[in-house]
Amino acid sequence: MKKQITFIVGGLAAAWLAGTPALAAEKLTLYCSPQIEWCNLMVEAFEKETGIDVAMTRKSSGETFAQIKAEARNPKGDVWWGGTGDPHLQAAEEGLTEEYTSPVFDKLHPWAQNQAKSASMKTVGIYAGALGIGYNKELLAAKGLPAPESWADLAKPEYKGEVQIANPNSSGTSYTTLATLVQIMGEDEAFDLMKAMHKNVNQYTKSGSAPIKAAARGETTIGITFMHDMVTQVVNGFPIEIVAPTEGTGYEIGSMSIIKNARNMESAKKFYDFALNADIQTRAREAKAYQVPSNSGATPPDESPDLTKLKLIDYDFAKYGSSAERKRLLKRWDDEVGSLPR
Ligand code: G6P
Repeated sequence: MKKQITFIVGGLAAAWLAGTPALAAEKLTLYCSPQIEWCNLMVEAFEKETGIDVAMTRKSSGETFAQIKAEARNPKGDVWWGGTGDPHLQAAEEGLTEEYTSPVFDKLHPWAQNQAKSASMKTVGIYAGALGIGYNKELLAAKGLPAPESWADLAKPEYKGEVQIANPNSSGTSYTTLATLVQIMGEDEAFDLMKAMHKNVNQYTKSGSAPIKAAARGETTIGITFMHDMVTQVVNGFPIEIVAPTEGTGYEIGSMSIIKNARNMESAKKFYDFALNADIQTRAREAKAYQVPSNSGATPPDESPDLTKLKLIDYDFAKYGSSAERKRLLKRWDDEVGSLPR
């Protein structure tokens, strides 16, 4: 009798084990757009807390948007964490991301909540950061060049070959710069400036933060990136000077979205809630990531640029994160700037 019961229970257990996906190891495929050091920290911390296996790839914001769009019929990613907000908003508008309200939502700063509300909860703000002009002060002095003070200065002939910025198609940083210039000086004037600046650009990089890393290594004199990426190089001991352009500057609301029809939807929501927590946001400094965190209970790093002291423009995220506007501006940049000879 005893033997029979054991057999039956054993048989049931075997069938249950074989047929129940809940017992398969939980997984998450993460598309990550901020600096790789921070992506790695997030993966390690999340795996440790949940036991969920994470497969992560780091790609720039525009590149990740293009990948998610290309994979829309058969999504491979679950969560897109970080990167500038505009392409996240575009993804929301194009129905590529999933609506979700985290239990942590109420703890977020209004700017992070507004990002979500403007996109029917299909994305959310996770950090903020402002754009700046950075330069290698040793190289600048060695070349006898004046320090740039404004966006307009970047077009001056004395900076020929001295400026590096990312390509706005791949990089959210560079698209934010493009949209910032358009908002500061008007579209035609901004394109005139970018065309004049083109002669000074030694390379359009794929990744947004690459230009300031190159300036730190002495491979370019000037780099245009987010200020917090410049701070990382200063903390690393490089001779980088950070300039807040006199005309004012634009900023990003770094965002996170769950990919529509994610294969690992439960893991995706767990990661989403985890990433909005104050504790993990406070730990960003361990990866030398100096963005301003979106959870009001998180402590911003002492090194973070104080956004309240900057002349920030009233960046129109709804407009510049809209699908039509982003496509149109990138096409105009390709036609009028990227394709120009140097
Ligand atoms: C850097 C910044 C982030 C930003 C990201 C965008 O990692 O620290 O704040 O969101 O660049 O990257 P991308 O390569 O798209 O410009």
